[in-house]
Amino acid sequence: MALESVPSDTLGAGLKQVQAEIDSVFDAFLTVPDDSRARLVEAMRYAAIGGGKRVRPLLLVSTAELFGVDRTTALRAGAAVEAIHVYSLIHDDLPCMDDDDMRHGKLTLHKAFDEATAVLAGDSLHALAFEILSDTGTSSDPFTRAELIATLATASGKDGMAGGQIMDMVAEDADYDLHTITRLQQLKTGALLAASVEMGAILGKVAPEGRAHLRAYARDIGLAFQIADDLLDLEGDEEKAGKALRKDEGQGKATFVSLMGAKKAREQAHALVDQAVAHLVSHGEEADMLRALARFIVERDR
Ligand code: IPE
Ligand code: IPE
Ligand code: MG
Ligand code: MG
Ligand code: MG
Repeated sequence: MALESVPSDTLGAGLKQVQAEIDSVFDAFLTVPDDSRARLVEAMRYAAIGGGKRVRPLLLVSTAELFGVDRTTALRAGAAVEAIHVYSLIHDDLPCMDDDDMRHGKLTLHKAFDEATAVLAGDSLHALAFEILSDTGTSSDPFTRAELIATLATASGKDGMAGGQIMDMVAEDADYDLHTITRLQQLKTGALLAASVEMGAILGKVAPEGRAHLRAYARDIGLAFQIADDLLDLEGDEEKAGKALRKDEGQGKATFVSLMGAKKAREQAHALVDQAVAHLVSHGEEADMLRALARFIVERDR
């Protein structure tokens, strides 16, 4: 099926389904204990359940589906990636980072609870991701579990999300060129999106040499995703986005938008999506969700 003929509600239904499923995985893992840790787990639930678009889990599940992976297995791996993503947002919103009051249309975690609880909830979600991946209930194959863990660990730390975040934090004083901004975005946002696709392929037992086109797809949508986030920061509707916008410029963030202007950045994002979709040419309609997700990434309003 050509992309144009994918009904737009296919994606809407896919997102809605995965949102409910990821909520229930988190609900199952985050039982509030009957002791003084209750506040920590309540904070984890506040941040992790409801709210997010769940793009990363849908990417993982849709990739895994190409290879016939059991959905429950893929959802657990999707929840692991999402746990890292949610933790990254909790810390990103802290006063020492972006200092934001709103996330997902409600108070940020440190505003609803307090900063110490927010730091610890982030830490615990980080740990939860690897608890889920190392559990035999996620995969009975120890090699698959180890590869999932290694992939998500690399995408989360200095060679992934956290590395990109520090580049973003020092962007104010640095004189970044296009090459460096591309690197920053690939780490900050691209790494977790790429890990989602990679983990779907790992669950599908696809050998690394068979993953090249999926990696190329993921790389392109990763860059397009952050360009879209930066465009939303400039032009979006705060109500729809559920977070404060028009902050990047004041904070001196170096982005594609600050470097090349909104028009060129938008063209670049669309070109990346076309390129991403072209990488899926060897797949038939079973990859339609991945194609629709690529479009959604640049056309979204939140
Ligand atoms: C926002 O990510 C932060 C970035 C990495 C750009 P999302 O837009 O995926 O966040 P939610 O979880 O859907 O709100
Ligand atoms: C955050 O990027 C990326 C993360 C790794 C969390 P932003 O700071 O641009 O994300 P928003 O705009 O606050 O969601
Ligand atoms: Mg930030
Ligand atoms: Mg932020
Ligand atoms: Mg942003």
